[in-house]
Amino acid sequence: MQFSPRVSELVHSPIGAAHALLAHRVNDRPLLDLSQAAPSYSPAPVVVERIAQAAEEADTSKYAPQPGLPELRAAFAADVASAYDADIAPDDTLITAGCNQAFCTVISALAGPGDNVVLALPFYFNHDMWLRVEGIEPRYLKTDDRLHPSATAAHELIDERTRAIVLVTPGNPSGVTYPPELIDAFADLTVERGVALLVDETYRSFRPTTTPAHRLYDRPHWRDHVITLHSFSKDLAIPGYRVGGLIAGEAARVEALKILDCIAISAAAIGQTASATGLSEAAAWRQEQADRTRDLQAQFEDVMAEQPGGFALVTAGAYFGWVRAPGNEPTVDVVQRLVIEHDVLTIPGTAFMPTDEQMIRFSFANLAANEITELGRRLAQWRR
Ligand SMILES: Cc1ncc(COP(=O)(O)O)c(C=O)c1O
Repeated sequence: MQFSPRVSELVHSPIGAAHALLAHRVNDRPLLDLSQAAPSYSPAPVVVERIAQAAEEADTSKYAPQPGLPELRAAFAADVASAYDADIAPDDTLITAGCNQAFCTVISALAGPGDNVVLALPFYFNHDMWLRVEGIEPRYLKTDDRLHPSATAAHELIDERTRAIVLVTPGNPSGVTYPPELIDAFADLTVERGVALLVDETYRSFRPTTTPAHRLYDRPHWRDHVITLHSFSKDLAIPGYRVGGLIAGEAARVEALKILDCIAISAAAIGQTASATGLSEAAAWRQEQADRTRDLQAQFEDVMAEQPGGFALVTAGAYFGWVRAPGNEPTVDVVQRLVIEHDVLTIPGTAFMPTDEQMIRFSFANLAANEITELGRRLAQWRR
């Protein structure tokens, strides 16, 4: 059989590559796994109880309504409406099997082969991968020292085949949260140039503030050009239940639903029930996890302030530290040595940008407090 060169030649899974490195480990001490961002704790007890109960209910094993269970759409809309003090209705939502699927359905609805989409650097690798799978050209938008992209620079990248600009805030891999006025400037640009603005808000709850992350929903015509993408994986510690969603105007939702119909029909009902329960009944638990993650960040920043082994923290936030490796060794080699010699699994920055800038992503939020201390010890033993 023959495979599409767009997939076989262009697309590589950084998480798969990281896990493949584990086969080369020689030490038998515990691994510090800072690769795939994944909560290390269980979901809220009320969510676990509801899942057990739902398994006994006849509707749970059926297809869910395609746009999502009404109770989840209502809880999701209420959650976002309260976070933004905005007028968001259940009908503005579409539930997907995770935020990745939300992105894929929206992109496939917006663009096709030969079109292009602007990604701010460093990008989230699955966004880049999906564009390549679809034959859509990713156009990379450079960022400044704070890793902020500029709408003025984005203007230059747009042409008649541009379909969307994608922002991820807080960022993966950078952890950087963009200020609302920066996001506003991009909204103005996308209106002016007639393209969509996609904002991936997977890590919204892990910002250092509860003030609204942006003012997009205050714009009277936001439904014509803005699509926000959401995940319940980290927020509710249920990545395995695969639930996320998007908020968009009717036109975008109708198109995305056609794609969703082909690839998933609907997100699994059990995960949707878990998400609805978490959003409506686990508010205090969610806040505790966000606070705990920020404590881990503070501890990680303390450990990295010493630049153990020469590794220098550039930015941190949400789940991630974006770290500059010492020396000029190719980053994939540094990452390989980190796991083989130091039992520290990370993702090379080359998974998030087209050039090797000696950057590495550390998903510090995967670790417990004692493991962050141990991370500092292991990095300090690094020899160039
Ligand atoms: C920026 C970003 N978007 C989307 C996702 C995927 O989320 P989900 O598990 O909801 O598909 C992730 C997960 O790591 C992410 O970091």
